[in-house]
Amino acid sequence: MNIVLLGAPGAGKGTQAQKLVEEFGVAHISTGDLLRAAVKAGTKLGVKAKEYMDAGQLVPDKLVVDLVKERLAADDAKKGFILDGFPRNTAQAVTLDSALADMDLSLDAALLVDVKAEVIVERLSSRRTCRDCGYTAPAGVDVCPSCGGEMYQRDDDKPETIQNRLNVYESQTAPLVEYYKGKGLLKVVDGDRPVDDVYADVKELLAL
Ligand code: AP5
Repeated sequence: MNIVLLGAPGAGKGTQAQKLVEEFGVAHISTGDLLRAAVKAGTKLGVKAKEYMDAGQLVPDKLVVDLVKERLAADDAKKGFILDGFPRNTAQAVTLDSALADMDLSLDAALLVDVKAEVIVERLSSRRTCRDCGYTAPAGVDVCPSCGGEMYQRDDDKPETIQNRLNVYESQTAPLVEYYKGKGLLKVVDGDRPVDDVYADVKELLAL
């Protein structure tokens, strides 16, 4: 299973990826998680990335692409991978195609988790994220159900930044839906339903 998850911020990409990873043991490659880990560790990359992330803007491609290539080459990606949050624009999609071709790999599907903007604003405002493992859950969950870590509100889940992220999605990432449709890889799931119902359809669409 080699797939790309597409969808607006808060559509539920990470939530569905967590479930696929639990059931199928594939690698979850989330560029958001990789960048937040770099910010937390205070690396040079993390310091540069933080200003873009806090503003709800995309981090420059050159900072993200090498992170993804490194993760795709790691052992845990040999069983398959779910790319969550990458690619984010056409340049990243083209780079991904050529990186996969170099590794003799290809994508099986690009799955769009489709959710209306009104639902997204509500979800992101109430989302809490684990500081240690990145697990996400609605507000009210104070201890991570996955690793016991502390749940917190991401800086970019504050209302003023959510709208910027949605604008960036519409202008830069949404065109990838047509990109993958043109390659015959696009699958679409209605993400505005209970998590387990969405997941059942995800598995059906991916023939799992
Ligand atoms: P990133 O971390 O990728 O954020 P995002 O794409 O904005 O996606 P989210 O993690 O916010 O949402 P999600 O779709 O995973 O939803 P979730 O499952 O958590 O990126 C953050 C920043 O990093 C970017 O703004 C950018 O600056 C930078 N960045 C990252 N990748 C980059 C790249 N490739 N290039 C350049 N910059 C990059 O769900 C949301 C909430 O809804 C949760 O509380 C969840 O519990 C709940 N929920 C999920 N599903 C359902 C459901 N079916 N019903 C009800 N509630 C649900």
